[in-house]
Amino acid sequence: MSRSDSAKPVPLSARAPSGPLRGEIRAPGDKSISHRALMLGGLAVGETTIHGLLEGEDVLRTAAAMRAMGAEVSRDDAGTWRVHGRGIGGLAEPSDVLDMGNAGTGTRLLMGVVATHPFVSFFSGDASLRSRPMARVTKPLEQMGARFVGREGGRLPTVVIGTARPVPITYRLPVASAQVKSAIILAGLNTPGRTTVVEPEPTRDHTELMLRHFGVDVTVEPGPDGDRVSVAGQPEITGRVVRVPGDPSSAAFPIVAALLVPGSEVTIRDVGLNPRRTGIIDTLLEMGADIRVEGRRVEAGEPVGDLVVRASALRGIEVPAARAPSMIDEYLVLSVAASCASGRTVMRGLSELRVKESDRLAAIARGLAACGVRAEVDGDDLAVHGCGGPPPGGATIATKLDHRIAMSFLVMGMAARAPVAIDDASPIETSFPGFRGLMAGLGASFQEP
Ligand code: S3P
Repeated sequence: MSRSDSAKPVPLSARAPSGPLRGEIRAPGDKSISHRALMLGGLAVGETTIHGLLEGEDVLRTAAAMRAMGAEVSRDDAGTWRVHGRGIGGLAEPSDVLDMGNAGTGTRLLMGVVATHPFVSFFSGDASLRSRPMARVTKPLEQMGARFVGREGGRLPTVVIGTARPVPITYRLPVASAQVKSAIILAGLNTPGRTTVVEPEPTRDHTELMLRHFGVDVTVEPGPDGDRVSVAGQPEITGRVVRVPGDPSSAAFPIVAALLVPGSEVTIRDVGLNPRRTGIIDTLLEMGADIRVEGRRVEAGEPVGDLVVRASALRGIEVPAARAPSMIDEYLVLSVAASCASGRTVMRGLSELRVKESDRLAAIARGLAACGVRAEVDGDDLAVHGCGGPPPGGATIATKLDHRIAMSFLVMGMAARAPVAIDDASPIETSFPGFRGLMAGLGASFQEP
């Protein structure tokens, strides 16, 4: 059974309003890059060394799954991870169900990996993961020759019967999803010929960048209906050193907290600044945020920098639908920022929020209303009427096994006039272990009711 199904909920509330947040932190390692580093390490021959791996529950599930399929995965006392891989196509049949916990990325990417391994595997996870649609990955992977037996909509638990004779495909993404793109590209690694994904809208490209870092031939060419991302199958890849940058999606919580709490100044070191992930920073800057980027550099193919954030008066803006893929995980915390801004913020094209760890569109509307903030959902668009300062707060929010709901509403509590509580802080472990200590180190104050 998954932790989140069995563990006792941990209610937590943020004292409101918080005193100024000050200091310097490093955001936890990037979740997307951490999953990929473990997977590619497991598919490479020889040793892959990973510095700064996110040790959150989701990534630990991927580490366990790679181990269950024969990769040697270990961590030393200094926090460096080592993976001894099995080579492309060399993974072994796992002898038990792969319990992926809350990890959507781990599940969908690994389904791609095992689809072109000739063995049977079983995937399950917590109640949140079991409710998420998997047909978006199983459909293209079936075209490559794998078979899947899942519940309605391909929902977990799902059996994957990997194919011994994979065929390369060209697949046009029907939804802007890096997870679907990555699942197909990873399946293409053990497929003869070239496997191609056409993406009408650019999505995060960590898989492409990391494959190149491991020496794989990945090409990206513009086409009439979007970028054509293509991988040459069955390469031999050898282990590499990977330095995982801080996760901009996790950094978003201290960034927004520092912007909203008067008198704050916070520096966040080593934040990943891949342009396909930084929509939240662009948006906050447009809203009038004082965020300075220093020390830009490139590590393992990924742009990185340090952010200096100062409390700012924000104003409402319109966020275009085209920006959604570059900040898809940040709309919850952006809505909290919008609640404190002056004027209305309209965020367009949010349909994908309905199929995340929870229905986040519904969660935002419900949570903001409970905190005394006016918000309206109109189709796939969300409008938040800013309070032009601290919102009322004074609510208890149901986290619904969603780590980002938990952290977003704790940030709301820091900025609001009355405390905001969440019914369960334990899902935060999914992506941001140490959130509470780190924020408390900056000056936030949390209480267990
Ligand atoms: C991820 C892609 C995004 C994002 C998720 C991580 C990834 O999902 O929401 O948290 O690592 O590829 P989609 O690509 O399905 O939108």
